[in-house]
This record gives sequence, C-alpha cells and structure tokens, in this order.
Amino acid sequence: MSLLSVKNLEVKFATAEGEITAVDNISFDVNPGEVLGLVGESGSGKSVTARSLMKLNADNTRYGEGSSMTLSADGETINILGLRTPRQLRKVRGDLVSMIFQEPMASFAPAISIGSQMVEQLMLHRKMTRSEARELSIDLLDKVGISDAPKRFKQYAFELSGGMRQRAMIAMALSTRPRLLIADEPTTALDVTIQAQVLDLMKDIVAEYDMGVIFITHDLGVIAQTADRVAVMYLGKIVESGPVRDVIHNPAHPYTQGLLNALPKLEDLDAPLTPVPGDIPSPLERPNGCVFHTRCQKAIEGKCSAMEPPQVTIRDGHVSSCFLNDPQNNDPQNGDLA
Ligand SMILES: Nc1ncnc2c1ncn2[C@@H]1O[C@H](COP(=O)(O)OP(=O)(O)OP(=O)(O)O)[C@@H](O)[C@H]1O
Ligand SMILES: [Mg+2]
Repeated sequence: MSLLSVKNLEVKFATAEGEITAVDNISFDVNPGEVLGLVGESGSGKSVTARSLMKLNADNTRYGEGSSMTLSADGETINILGLRTPRQLRKVRGDLVSMIFQEPMASFAPAISIGSQMVEQLMLHRKMTRSEARELSIDLLDKVGISDAPKRFKQYAFELSGGMRQRAMIAMALSTRPRLLIADEPTTALDVTIQAQVLDLMKDIVAEYDMGVIFITHDLGVIAQTADRVAVMYLGKIVESGPVRDVIHNPAHPYTQGLLNALPKLEDLDAPLTPVPGDIPSPLERPNGCVFHTRCQKAIEGKCSAMEPPQVTIRDGHVSSCFLNDPQNNDPQNGDLA
C-alpha cells in the first residue's frame, strides 16, 4: 500500500474577486523510500498542494467533494481531510509528516531560540529527554553544515542568515524522522556547493529511515538528481508524470518540453535560452479546454481550447494529458511529438 495516496484533490479559495481554483483534480501516490518531485512555474499550485497535506491552507479554503488524501503508516490509515482537533491534526503536523517551508522565517517562532524549538519538537514527537534532544539537535545542525552548532543552537531565527535558517529548518524537519517529508523549495536560498551537500544529507537520511518525500522545486536539474518520479504541474493540474529519467529524456507534454528547453545548456553556453512563451494566466481566468493551450505552440485549433485532453499512458507509469499524445487523435497537425 502507498504511504500517501492523493485522489482527485481539488482546492478552491474564496476571494473578493470570486472563487479561484488553485488545485484542479490531481491524483498521485508516494511510497515509502520514494522521492516524488513536483515541478512547475510560480503559481501552479505546488505549495497549496503541499499545505493541503497538513491541512494548513488559509480559512478561505474549500476542498472539493471528491477529494481524498490518505496516509498509511504503522498499520493505520488516516483520512487527512477528516482530521479536525489539534490532537488529531498533530498526526500530520509533526508526527507522521514534516514540512520544510518555502519561507524559513515563517516556521520558526521569532522569540524562541532555534535550539529550544528543536528540543520541544523532539520531546513532543519522539518522546526524548531534554538532554537527548539537545544532543541530537546540535548533531543535526552540524550535519547540515552549520558551523559552531552549539552557539547557533542558542540563537534566534533572525540572527541567522537566510541560508543558515534554511539549513536549520531542514535539520529540524528531519529530526523527528517523519514517514513523509514535504520539502518546498528547500535549497533555493543556498549556494550550489551547500545545496549539493544538503541534498546529499537529505538523501542519506531519507534512505536510512525509508521516508517518502515530496520535493518541490522550479529546478528540473535538482529534480533529476533527487527524485525517483516527477509530476509536472501547470495551473493546478498535473499535466505529465512518470519516472524521472523517462520524463526528462522523453517529455511527452508540450509544457514539460518547454520547461526542459528553457534550461541553460552547459555544453553550449552560447545557445539562446528559449523560455516558455507568455505568462501563466491568473487562476481567476483559467482557460477552458487544456489549461496550457493559450501558451502552447502545438495547440490544435478548435480542439485544445474546447475540450479537456485525455490522460494518455506513454509507457509504464509515464502519463501525459495532451491530445497530441493520444493515438486516437488523427488530426493532421499531430506531428513530431518529441
Ligand atoms: N489563501 C489563498 N487565497 C487565495 N489565493 C491563494 C491562496 N493561497 C494560494 N493562492 C493562489 O493559489 C495559486 C497557487 O499558489 P501556490 O503558492 O501553490 O503556487 P506555487 O506553485 O507554490 O508557486 P511558487 O513557485 O511561486 O511558490 C496562486 O495563484 C496563489 O495566488
Ligand atoms: Mg510555492
């Protein structure tokens, strides 16, 4: 059984301009020991998806009727959307699930030292004594590359640089040994050498404890190195997903192809970058039909703007939602897909 199973997750927000759909009917699974990468441009719904897994979205959130998220661990299956009381919610907020937030400042209380917060967590979620918790916390701060860890342990979040705060948060999230780790852009604030070091450390700890991981980033290069499978999001939809190498070597969806084309190529530094044209539309103006059709250079006139594309299996475990991938689509414009 999967560790996490998300089915038909739909997340809407009530706003002054009307209701917006931030996540539109997405489904995915994560197994123990597996790293699922979630990629997509800013505003595609990655963080909203992550926060939904801990029921941490704002008060204006409405989950779709058919949405379900279940977490199965230690012989127990938890229906995440059914959790209500703080005691129930603690299951997914610190016990079984840990999150590394995109904004590290937000996850540390400003008036409590980094060390006290780490120790409290360990005493609460891992039932450690204060001195055991202190020892482990300092050890982990050291492992994520924070020099002079015993001194940093006593400091407050605002006393640390951005990169150091990010690393402290990674140490804190890993310390409780969650079954599922959600890492939302965990290494964006770090320079590349530290990033590589932190990614290696995360990989080791994740393998050692057989954690499932959802790794969110804009960076397909980081995904290629870190993830086993990848799901590509665009405007609230998963447009393509599959084993990471297969998706990167044989992208089937024009959006994934566009993201890969936009990456700088080390072997040809003079080659011009080709960004995906246009901007992601506002969720208040979600296009009909395929959500990507307004920016797609391969869109089929009259079809992609009118109908939702089917989900097509490319090969084992690799699926893409595009008319061009559909063998039933005999349109003359259905040219070279690669
Ligand atoms: N509480 C809220 N009320 C209204 N809209 C919201 C709320 N939270 C998120 N959104 C909207 O949901 C959409 C998806 O946001 P989300 O933060 O998930 O994007 P993202 O993929 O994580 O982007 P980024 O890469 O910039 O972090 C955005 O349009 C955002 O403005
Ligand atoms: Mg985000």
